[in-house]
Amino acid sequence: MTVPEFQRQKSKGRKLVVVTAYDALFTRILEQAGIEAILVGDSLGVVVQGKSNTLSVTMDEMIYHTMLVASVRENALVIADMPFMSYQVSVEEAVRNAGRLIQAGAGAVKLEGGISMIDRVQALTQVGIPVMGHIGMTPQSVNQYGGYKVQGREDVHAEALLADARALESAGAFSLVLEAIPVDLAKSITEAVSIPTIGIGAGPNCDGQVLVLYDLLGLFDEFSPKFVKPYAHLKADALQALRRFKEEVECQKFPSDLESYH
Ligand code: KIV
Repeated sequence: MTVPEFQRQKSKGRKLVVVTAYDALFTRILEQAGIEAILVGDSLGVVVQGKSNTLSVTMDEMIYHTMLVASVRENALVIADMPFMSYQVSVEEAVRNAGRLIQAGAGAVKLEGGISMIDRVQALTQVGIPVMGHIGMTPQSVNQYGGYKVQGREDVHAEALLADARALESAGAFSLVLEAIPVDLAKSITEAVSIPTIGIGAGPNCDGQVLVLYDLLGLFDEFSPKFVKPYAHLKADALQALRRFKEEVECQKFPSDLESYH
């Protein structure tokens, strides 16, 4: 999957599937499942590092996880998140940091924000770095929202988000993540732009969907927004396996002759 191919899917009416990954093991599984785009999300701060938000994730951490994913990538487009404070301070810092993610193996970067980030998006696309925008509920602004809350419910905010989407497209973004916004607004934005919209908590009318891997596998249940659907229950399976292992070691059922050398 290349960036132009990713974009073409919209005109073909084919839904795009994006899933996050942070390591080589799960990247191989996503590739086997035919997932076309892998997002090395700064959500790793929450699901891998156990923090309550994404704000402390650093460039070095993003580079490390991008390298793990990119090292075993076969077909999927790898998109790396630009972490908090890696692009907000200046256009120069944004270009330098996005370049580091590309050098680590990403095929594109993602950054949060609308009209305020237009100069970053323009500068990155001008130097050949494809940018995915991210609007709606942008987790790096959690302190401004006072929590993870649905955005764009009021007309004035919905109009601002529509303007953000149009501006990001004009600045050169190749795609947009729409997070936690009402279904009708996501539909209007999807119809208003020619680049693919990838929804997370934005309803069924987006051009594709993204979920955090550990949410969709049922591995992470510390908090679960309404938009998460667990397609497996791996935490329950892991707990069951670990409890059985413990029990079998304690009652000397494991290792048996089968697992022993002679
Ligand atoms: O960091 C992340 O995983 C994301 C997705 C939730 C879109 O930005």
